[in-house]
Amino acid sequence: SLDEGLLERFDRQIEREGYPTRSKAIADLMGTALVQREWKAGGEVAAGIVMVYDHHKRDLVNKLTSIQHDYHHLIISSQHIHLDHDHCLEMVVVRGDSRQVETLARRLKSTKGVKHSAIAAATTGGAL
Ligand code: NI
Repeated sequence: SLDEGLLERFDRQIEREGYPTRSKAIADLMGTALVQREWKAGGEVAAGIVMVYDHHKRDLVNKLTSIQHDYHHLIISSQHIHLDHDHCLEMVVVRGDSRQVETLARRLKSTKGVKHSAIAAATTGGAL
């Protein structure tokens, strides 16, 4: 009962994306919707938070460390990569209440001196 034009556009799009079957593409969309719902409902989620910053910025490393200690109960691991002489990339992997994870990500991102920060909002997998 789907609109034929819509179905054609969808099939062209998923072919470009390399999906082997339409059902795999639809299952992925359903998974994305369920994960988004998990985040909105305030359930337990998993995520990666990435930050790029200049470690020479005064007090910045201390501030970022201090924020992470405020949320130590969420943090599973963190990895620090020295990108070049000035820049660091830090990847923090978290698991816990979605609202707390969002607050942590927002606090890290809004810290003065952080050049880029993004969150990969994932799932613990149970709801899929
Ligand atoms: Ni570094």
